[in-house]
Amino acid sequence: MLTRLCCSGLVLALLSIAPSRTLAESTSTGTGLKGDATRGQVLFNGKGICHYCHGVDGVIDKKPALKPETVAAIAKQAASAPDLRNRAVQTLKDNKARFRAIREGHPGGGMFPDSTLSDQEITDILAYLAALRQSASTPGKSPY
Ligand code: HEC
Repeated sequence: MLTRLCCSGLVLALLSIAPSRTLAESTSTGTGLKGDATRGQVLFNGKGICHYCHGVDGVIDKKPALKPETVAAIAKQAASAPDLRNRAVQTLKDNKARFRAIREGHPGGGMFPDSTLSDQEITDILAYLAALRQSASTPGKSPY
């Protein structure tokens, strides 16, 4: 599925990134749904195939064993995947922007031509991502 990387939704995604906020980060996705980080972790390392690029459990160096053609397709991307445990290297400022990036493909990188994740599943993943960012900003503390 990664061989069909394309940019549909890219322009939309770029236009819709919310301006940076100075206030505390909003956790709202605009969907009104509530995320479950435990389910999000399973989706991250499974159906969502996030671990292909962002590493198992978001540990950037911990890549799963992939087919050579999948590795090649990932290597062709314009950008390399950021460390989702390191808040400092991330550019999206709120869950609305992250939700769109996951649904429509990552701006600047191009991906997910046919994501099958539901709104609820993306919301669960966002709860997990919030835990990952938390784990990096408070070293030694479990994200849960
Ligand atoms: C094919 C590789 C690939 C896969 C699979 C992938 N990503 Fe990404 N991701 C990237 C790249 C490259 C970037 C940085 C450039 C960009 O945004 O396009 C990125 C950026 C992000 C960002 C933005 C971080 C910031 O800067 O704030 C988030 C959040 C994210 N990914 C989450 C996910 C989630 C969740 C999944 C699974 C549903 C996923 N990614 C799957 C490659 C990937």
